[in-house]
Formats: sequence, structure tokens, C-alpha cells
Amino acid sequence: MNEQMDDELDFATRCIHAGVEPDLETGAVKRPLVMANSYQAPFDFRTDPNAKMRFGYAREHHPNGYWLEQRLAAMEEGEACVVTASGVAAINGTLFSLLSRGDHVVASATVYVAVRDVLLNHFPQRFGIDSTLVDTADAEAVRRAITPRTKLIHIETPGNPTTRISDIAAIARIASEAGIPLMVDSTWAGPALQHPLKLGATLVAHSLSKYINGHGDAIGGCVIGPSEIIERIRRFAIVDLGSCISPFNAWQIMRGSATLPLRMEKHCANALKVAQFLESHPKVAWVRYPGLASHPQHAIAVKQMDGFSGMLNFDIKGDPARRPDFLRKLKVFTHATCLGHDESLIMVYEWDDEKFFRVSVGIESADDLIADLGQALDAV
Ligand SMILES: Cc1ncc(COP(=O)(O)O)c(C=O)c1O
Repeated sequence: MNEQMDDELDFATRCIHAGVEPDLETGAVKRPLVMANSYQAPFDFRTDPNAKMRFGYAREHHPNGYWLEQRLAAMEEGEACVVTASGVAAINGTLFSLLSRGDHVVASATVYVAVRDVLLNHFPQRFGIDSTLVDTADAEAVRRAITPRTKLIHIETPGNPTTRISDIAAIARIASEAGIPLMVDSTWAGPALQHPLKLGATLVAHSLSKYINGHGDAIGGCVIGPSEIIERIRRFAIVDLGSCISPFNAWQIMRGSATLPLRMEKHCANALKVAQFLESHPKVAWVRYPGLASHPQHAIAVKQMDGFSGMLNFDIKGDPARRPDFLRKLKVFTHATCLGHDESLIMVYEWDDEKFFRVSVGIESADDLIADLGQALDAV
């Protein structure tokens, strides 16, 4: 697709056409999988500024990574994108690329567990970088946590595992007044439902292992934003630390991403039906889904999301020891971690001393999902 056309095309069209051109050699209408790790170099590439060498060594960049970056940048309407080995490599790679000794970070209390470990343990103890983790559902808590040393604000919304929602536009205003870049981990919504860059964020990060790939069969991550920052991340996190995505994973994620808008419609519709069913069930203690009026940040979700995604929490009434019995009775839901797959997944998570089921509602028939939960609830 002609890159200048990107902005004029609707989201669904960009998801299919961005990053794709027929293969020059074979005419194939899909991008090939290029597993080569080394690329022929023009003899004069070090001295002749006109000699183009797009790829040299695949740890630094490769065609499948490049094509996926074109697609993801077009999906988020960002200037540039870098893809990484995982979502954690994208976020922690950004932290390591942009921060130095003496800096301070403000982040959501619910940041992904491996990011939290870097912020709360590795950074202060080994690198002299401090963090303040706050409940970013309260935007003013972010303002209060900023110090003269704050160099980055990082929020995750919806937050894992709680579905907590933070007001991206409000936090972006606070960040911009303080002259601090804002990064948003938008994994739980994905680019079909939430647009952090349009709401004023500087960077948007995704785990591609979730909704964007959508089929639970690849690991990857990305960061999208201004070229100057993305190139700094590429030089440090990819070239120096080596957290490159494999060409195969990039190819797989490129294929999965084409159907993101269709899949997200079904995830959202199914999750709402499942949430409503659970909320009306006498054996269910509580349900948390951003699309329900009962969700504590429902109003913010309505304001900033084009759909409420497929993630929800709930718990059953009575003895907590019955949770494994309930899980054992399920036939359609798989007891497994991860999220954003075609199949529905469920696991018990803990947050702030509260234990609950975290559900990734898949794209099966909603009737089958509800019947499965219903028979398992009847049995406990
Ligand atoms: C919100 C969020 N961010 C980041 C990650 C990490 O992604 P990956 O497993 O691709 O490293 C996850 C994984 O569950 C996640 O839920």
C-alpha cells in the first residue's frame, strides 16, 4: 500500500493493506517469510551516502519486522514503530532506553508484573532510578507523584489483572503541562478500541502476543510514537540488548492482525453478554467489566474506548475452596494464562489481597460460553 494513502483509509482497510505490497520477484500478494539473518551489503555502503542498505543483520532489523512495523504504525496512526521480542521487551526496553541514573518514573500500580519488578526492584537497587506507583484511575494522583526528576509517566489501561481504567486524555494533559512523555500500555484494548496517541500520549505500547496476533501462537511487542524516540529505543533495546522479534513471529502476527477489527467486535459482544449473564446469576458474588454500568470507571471507559474488549473479572459466592471445583467443571473455557486468543481463557488472579477469576472472553458462540459457565456454576 502506498504509505501516503495510510491516513485516508479507514482502520479496517489499514489493518489489511498497511505494510503489504505484491512481492517484486514472484508477484505473491502476501509478504514472504524471510528467515535470512544476513543481507548482501553494497561495497561502498560505509562511504557512499547514496548507497542504500535497508537491512544488514537480522538482529538489528529484518523485512518481516519492518513490514509489521509499517502495519502497526498505520493502525495507531503514529509516526514510527519498533517491534520487539515480547510486550515486556517493548516496555522494559523503552524504560532502559530512555531513563538514566537519578531519573524518576510515575507508573500505574497495576503495571504488568515484569515491568513492576524492573521499576520497584532492579531500577532502584541496581541503576539508581526511582519510581512511584499510584492508582492512575485517579489522574490527580499522577500530578501529585511528579517530581522535578520525573522523566516518564507509564500507565496501563485497562489494567491487568483488574480491568482498572485510567483517563488517558486527563493524564496526557498533566504530562504535557509538566513536559514529561506519557507511555500507555494499551494491550488490553488494542488499536481497534483505544487510541492513546490521539488522546495526547507520546508513546503507545502493545504486547502483540494478545489481541493483535489474536490466535495465541506468537510472542511479540511494539512501541509506536515519534521517530526520534522510536529510533533511540531501536538502537538500545534492539541493536544493543538484542531483544529483536523473530521473522516467523513477525510474519505470524502480521497475518493475525489483519482480522483485528472483526475479532474485536466479537470479543466485545461476547464479553458483554457473558458479563451480563454472570451479573444476574445468584451464585456470582460480583462482576467487573468496563462495559457494565457497575464498573468503577465505566464513565471513563465510555469516554475513551470504542468498545470494552474481552477481559473481565468475577468471583463466586461462598467458600473460596470451590474455585478449583468450578474451574474443573468448565468444558469450553481453558484454564490457562494469557489473553486475547480466539479461545476463551480463565484463571484465578490475586490483586490487593483480593482473589478472583480473570476471564479472556474469546470469539466462540456466546451461547456456548454462557451455557458452559452456567453448568459449572450449577455444579458448585
Ligand atoms: C497489559 C500487558 N502488558 C504487557 C504484557 C506482557 O506481554 P508479553 O507476554 O508479550 O511480554 C502483558 C501480558 O499479559 C499484559 O497483559
